[in-house]
Amino acid sequence: MSTTEQLDMIGIDRLREIGSVKWSRFPHAIGAFVAEMDFPAAPAVAEAVKGAVDGGLTGYLPTAVSDRMAEAVSRWQCDRYGWDVPVERIRPVPDVLTALRSTIDFFTEPGSKIVLPTPAYMPFLTIPAMHDREIIEVPMLLDDGRYVYDLDGIDRALGDGGGLLILCNPYNPVGRVFERTELEAVAEVVERHGARVFSDEIHAPLVFAPHRHVPYASIGPEAAAHTITAASASKAWNLPGLKTALVILSNDADAETWTRPEVSWAEHGTANLGVVATTAAFDDGREWLAETLDYLDGSRRLLGELLAAHIPGMGYRAPEGTYIAWLDARGLGIDGSPADFFREHAGVAMTDGIACGAAGEGFLRFILATPRPIIEQAVTQMAQALRERTAG
Ligand SMILES: Cc1ncc(COP(=O)(O)O)c(C=O)c1O
Repeated sequence: MSTTEQLDMIGIDRLREIGSVKWSRFPHAIGAFVAEMDFPAAPAVAEAVKGAVDGGLTGYLPTAVSDRMAEAVSRWQCDRYGWDVPVERIRPVPDVLTALRSTIDFFTEPGSKIVLPTPAYMPFLTIPAMHDREIIEVPMLLDDGRYVYDLDGIDRALGDGGGLLILCNPYNPVGRVFERTELEAVAEVVERHGARVFSDEIHAPLVFAPHRHVPYASIGPEAAAHTITAASASKAWNLPGLKTALVILSNDADAETWTRPEVSWAEHGTANLGVVATTAAFDDGREWLAETLDYLDGSRRLLGELLAAHIPGMGYRAPEGTYIAWLDARGLGIDGSPADFFREHAGVAMTDGIACGAAGEGFLRFILATPRPIIEQAVTQMAQALRERTAG
């Protein structure tokens, strides 16, 4: 059976039985609001995790095991993106948001503001306040339907006390994969202000040809000197519950800072099984990833066809990377929250764009890493809800 046939066969009952957050929070709705994949784990990853449990690797994280992960990540960065990262500069952390919190605490000036392009991944809007930091939202601009950075806006925000720019590439929620020239333009602005960048590259393995991921810190020595990069296998191989991500340090000063015990404390809580799974994913899960990306590629196109046929008023541009669809519901004439409308009347649970900042108002975030028949069912139910509203 082909990968497509296998994935297409996974039904809603099975997904509810597994009971992920996406499929259990709203028991009567199609779950499309959490960035999780509904596909079984890559065999190489599953075997590695089973092997670790059978082999008794359930104590604290041994250095040799995390070193092996750093080697696998270094190989991945080099093979995929031509970025040479010394193994000792790749540090384990439990998750990307821990990396962000440490970056705010230890790599920015106290009291400096966080510059956040919006619409943004939701926790980016809430975490800075936990560190007594103000956010300056800089809405992205639309260039012929494609989201681009507002460089003047970023420039103004950095001039207005901004100390850290949060970059997300590939971009959750709008699906952009930034070109080298775009990243270079950002680096130039950041450098002018002596600011820092947190580059969240958690979705990097999920990029559709002809787009290519370019690690921000790899574009030149200045970007390397002002950046903390976060990477992970958790999105592409669906491992967020295994609590493992990576911080990549790209300059001597940051590597030195990381050796301070209160800074490297961020490594605490990284899970053995996640480390083993991540190593297997980057080294031995490449073929699985290619097949999964093929499937997702078909799905992002299918979603476009279905929307054009059944909800032509819904704006959609297929993501260049990630499995997140950013839907423009502003033309549908829905009063109030479009996410509430579709959850209540169509049985489809999505994230309301407003949760991604004011720039997301009227939009929806739909996770398309689900079997294609479920995408079809979701669109059919949404179209039906819109028809019934008109009829009513
Ligand atoms: C852009 C982005 N960053 C971070 C995260 C969260 O990652 P973690 O679970 O490693 O903190 C997500 C999860 O969806 C994400 O999309």
